[in-house]
Amino acid sequence: MNVLLSAEQIQSRIRDLGAEIEREYPAGEEIHLVGVLKGGFMFMADLVRAMSARVTLDFIAVSSYQRSTRSSGEVRLIKDLDSSVEGRHVIIVEDIVDTGLTLTYLQDILRARSPRTLRTACLLSKPSRRKIEVTVEYIGFTIEDKFVVGYGLDYAEQYRNLAHIAVLEGQ
Ligand code: IMP
Ligand code: MG
Repeated sequence: MNVLLSAEQIQSRIRDLGAEIEREYPAGEEIHLVGVLKGGFMFMADLVRAMSARVTLDFIAVSSYQRSTRSSGEVRLIKDLDSSVEGRHVIIVEDIVDTGLTLTYLQDILRARSPRTLRTACLLSKPSRRKIEVTVEYIGFTIEDKFVVGYGLDYAEQYRNLAHIAVLEGQ
C-alpha cells in the first residue's frame, strides 16, 4: 500500500486545525465536538488534544458503506448522542467527506436540535466525488478520488489502526 499521508503530516495538520478552531470561537465558551463513529475516532482523539480544556465531546454512529468502496447512498443512524446539543457550539468531526450524503444527513439532524452554532471538521475531502453540495468549515487535506485506509478509515473493517493514511492496493 502506498502511503498518501504520513503520521507526521497528519499530526502537524491537526495541530494547526486545533489552533485555528480555538481562535475562531469566543474565548471561554465551550466547544462541543461530535465525533462520527467509527471512522472519526482517531481524528477526534488527536483534535481534542490539540485544543484547550474548554472542549467537551460526544459520539454518534452512522452507517453508509456496506463492505464496499462505493457508497450505497443510504445513511442510517446506529448510535445517537448521549447529551443534548441545544444552545451549544457544535462541531461535527468526521474522517472524510466523499459524496457528501453522510454529512448532509448529520448536519440536517443536528441542526434540527437547535445548536447555537454548527460547523464541520473533516480530516479528508474528495471534492471530485461530491453528489451533494455540503459546507465543511475545517478540512485537513483535499485528496484525489482514491479509496484510502488508515487513521480510522477502513476497508471491510480493516486498517483503522494505521497511524498514516494509505491508498488501498489496486486503486
Ligand atoms: P459520503 O456519504 O459518501 O460522503 O461518505 C462518507 C463516509 O464514507 C465516510 O465517513 C467514510 O466512512 C466512508 N468513505 C468514503 N470514502 C472513503 C475512503 O476513501 N476510505 C474509507 N472510507 C471512505
Ligand atoms: Mg465515516
